[in-house]
Amino acid sequence: MKTVIYYFTGTGNSLAAARKIAGALGETELVPIASLANTPGPVTPTADRVGIVCPVYDSGVPVMVAEFAERLGLSRANYTFAVVTMAGMGVAALHQLNGIFSKRQNQKLDAAFAVTMPGNFPPLARLPAGEKCDRVLGKADIRLGEIAQAIGSGRAVPPGFAPVSRLLKALIYGPFAAGARGAGERFSVSDACTGCGTCAKVCPAGNLTLVDGRPAWAQQCELCCACLHFCPVEAIQLHMMRGTEGRGRYRHPDLTVADMVAQRGQKAPFPDNSAVQ
Ligand SMILES: Cc1cc2nc3c(=O)[nH]c(=O)nc-3n(C[C@H](O)[C@H](O)[C@H](O)COP(=O)(O)O)c2cc1C
Repeated sequence: MKTVIYYFTGTGNSLAAARKIAGALGETELVPIASLANTPGPVTPTADRVGIVCPVYDSGVPVMVAEFAERLGLSRANYTFAVVTMAGMGVAALHQLNGIFSKRQNQKLDAAFAVTMPGNFPPLARLPAGEKCDRVLGKADIRLGEIAQAIGSGRAVPPGFAPVSRLLKALIYGPFAAGARGAGERFSVSDACTGCGTCAKVCPAGNLTLVDGRPAWAQQCELCCACLHFCPVEAIQLHMMRGTEGRGRYRHPDLTVADMVAQRGQKAPFPDNSAVQ
């Protein structure tokens, strides 16, 4: 049985989740949403199962994912699913995807899951590190195994009642979605920058270029914070809420720069490309 999973990731949690599910299902193609962002028209995969795996941003899905969902035709799939990775609260993002599919295609996802993984937004909360981070990842691994089993057996799983998450989304997602693309203006780079260009390489939106050896952000930001977390000398800061100075950096332990580069242009190597940094 063939499965296609469309994924988006900033710091690797969602890619790790997609890979875990793909590994359990077998015969699964992982397709980066970022690689399709600039292609026109509908995307209607021919596969038995079609899924989306992505992070929660401000109680909804990243803008690039919402735009992709508008183009994703589910009519040829026998079973459809979404998995959102989040730091703590985000079931509303699954309702958002269901809303997009219902409105355009009068179809809802057959199954919708949320999984807690390490947070990656330091302006809001300090990031879990060390043993705490390992514990969160360990629990997520178990949960992802259960999710893969549910998908494998074709179980129907509605997103679940989530009044607080949906209220939060009603309050914060609109301003987030309206402002995300221009959020590059909120980043700064210090003199510690070595001009290595990692930030530009890992940006899934292709929103960064090096100008005179320093990163410059354009107007296609997704606020995924990959640039911030991958900078090898922590020269990048984000000036929102409590800021990011001394507030930790995170990326999933299995994520490589090569994975992020692959996200923009080609199918992610599966099952593992950890040999390529
Ligand atoms: C801009 C932004 C907003 C976020 N908003 C939420 C949120 O509303 N709820 C939540 O539980 N986590 C939130 N997070 C945390 C991420 O959803 C979580 O760490 C996710 O697993 C990251 O996935 P990734 O590693 O695939 O990018 C946010 C992260 C970012 C960067």
